[in-house]
Formats: sequence, structure tokens, C-alpha cells
Amino acid sequence: MDCQPQSNNTREKYQPIVVGRSEELAQLWELALKGRHVLVTGGAGIGKTVLLDMLYEGLRAREDFYIFRVGDSRQFKAALTELAEQMHAQGIYQHRKFSESVLRTMTWEKLAPKVRALTVKDLAESLVLSLAGRQAILIWDQFEKATPTELSWHHQFLTTATLVIATSDPSNSKLKVILDRIPARVELKELSEPESHELMEECFEIAPFAVSDLLWYKREIWRKSQGNPRAIKDLLADHSLEKYIDSQFIRSIQSDQGVRYFPISWMVLIATLLFSIHRYVGRGLGDRDAYIIGAAGMVIFLFLSLLVRKGNKAP
Ligand SMILES: Nc1ncnc2c1ncn2[C@@H]1O[C@H](COP(=O)(O)OP(=O)(O)O)[C@@H](O)[C@H]1O
Ligand SMILES: [Mg+2]
Repeated sequence: MDCQPQSNNTREKYQPIVVGRSEELAQLWELALKGRHVLVTGGAGIGKTVLLDMLYEGLRAREDFYIFRVGDSRQFKAALTELAEQMHAQGIYQHRKFSESVLRTMTWEKLAPKVRALTVKDLAESLVLSLAGRQAILIWDQFEKATPTELSWHHQFLTTATLVIATSDPSNSKLKVILDRIPARVELKELSEPESHELMEECFEIAPFAVSDLLWYKREIWRKSQGNPRAIKDLLADHSLEKYIDSQFIRSIQSDQGVRYFPISWMVLIATLLFSIHRYVGRGLGDRDAYIIGAAGMVIFLFLSLLVRKGNKAP
């Protein structure tokens, strides 16, 4: 999910930091320039959108072809409208209902309501018409959200432009017919350990904070994140975690010194629950013994979990 807490200022500051990915970018760049369709794959948070951003920004400067992009989490019609806007801005948007000279003089503000009123079919057709005969690269993010009903249009886009598609689900059977048409793949993997450390260093520079053992802390983040860049940034920005990690750290030191911790296991909780059920059932049946056994069991197990908690808190 792309729902990062908006209020987390530190997390936002980390957003522009990017490490690594130069190889993948070069690969993607070369394929796209050759006019090959490419599928960018990799799990959530691995950096597909970031990579597409870099490609888009890099290629926009070039004059020899057109480049368009569909951003995050859009519905199909919204995506098409977005493309129409970009094409209009570059002066190539065409629609058989409007004459070219009218389209050229119209601002997007004036045109937008007319475009939004079009059916998906009309709109998609106008995009294919606008792209026809031009060198164009179409960047399509979040393709895992595509639905089978859109497929015929994607087929047409594949025939008229070079598509760079990102998806976290390259083996989606419903989209197979489209995905099979794109043999070239750029797969994003987790960041390596040195890259993860580099990312953490850069984050620390933006928002420094005190932690008892920095190297240990970084290793812990690396272990938890498994090199997923989003996880690294989220973990670093989540200050509540410092306490957690620090308390784990203190515990690990203490257990080295022979202090043992006993987690209150779910077995104890379940036992408590069972006894309380026993007690209520006993009461319902008017069975005094069952009631007393249930109550006693509950008290004992509650007492036990309190003891464990207290024991764990003691230095
Ligand atoms: N190479 C990277 N270096 C640093 N941060 C990255 C890198 N790749 C991704 N991120 C961060 O991880 C988060 C998720 O990246 P995103 O591109 O949205 O992933 P995806 O599109 O694969 O789900 C973003 O906050 C982004 O800034
Ligand atoms: Mg993304």
C-alpha cells in the first residue's frame, strides 16, 4: 500500500534520497531507447516508481521522441485523461471530433471537461490516434491494478508506442496475454547490505538522532528490512521503534549476563480464557464446583502473567 503517514515529517525528508539502481536505470534506458517494451518487476516498496521517475526525468530532456507517464494508483479513465493532458501539453493530442486547429488553440482548462465527458472507448481511441506514427514512450506504473477489460487498449498502446510498465505481479494470469507480449524485464531486487548502509547514512545526515550503538542499530534495521528501501526509510522515520530496538538491545545485553526473559505466551492467555469460560458455564448451569474451579484457575493464571511481567521489568 502506498499510504505513508503524511504527518511524519522525517519520512518526507527521506523521500528524495535514492541509492544504487544505476545499473537497472541504464538497462531500462537502453531498452526503452531501442523501442523495446519493458516490464519492471519487484515487490512493493522495492523502488519501481522511483526508477520510473528517474527514467521519465532523464528522457524528458530529449527532443527526438515523446514521453508520457501514468502515475500512481489511477483508475483507467483517469489514467487516460492524464495521458490526454500530457499529449495536449506537447501539442499532439488529436480527436476525430475536434479539428486540429481548434485543439491547438484550446487551453487544457477548456478542453478538460470535454475530454472527461468522452467514453473510455472514445478517449482511448483518441490517444492511439495521437500516438500513431510518432516515436513515443509510455510509462505505465502500477500495472498490477489493471483489469482485464482494459486489455484491448493496452494491446493497441503496445502496437503504437514503446511501453515501460511496472508491476509487482508479473505472473498475474488475468493479464498474461499482455505481459507475454513484453519479453524484456528489469527486475528490482532488495538493496545490498552496503547499499542499505549507505541509505541509512544519508538518512542520518538529514535527521540525526542519538542511539546507544549505531552499528548495532543499523544491522538491526538491515535485518528487519531485508534491504527493502521503503522498509528502511519507514523504520528509520518511526521513532517509536528506537525505544523498541533499544529495549531489545538492553535485553540482549542482560541475557548475555544471565538475566532471562519469559514472554507471556499465548498459551497462558488461552488458559486464562478457558478458565473464565469454565467459570461462566459453571455459573450458567448452577454448578458450584465448576464455578469455583473456573474462578480459581482464572485467578492463578492472571497472577502468573502478572508475575512474569513484573519479573521481566526487574533489572
Ligand atoms: N534505491 C532507493 N534508494 C532510496 N530509497 C528508495 C529507493 N527505492 C525506493 N526507495 C524508497 O522506497 C519507497 C518506495 O519506493 P517506490 O518506488 O514507491 O516502490 P514501489 O513503486 O516498487 O512500490 C519510497 O519512499 C522511495 O523513496
Ligand atoms: Mg510504485
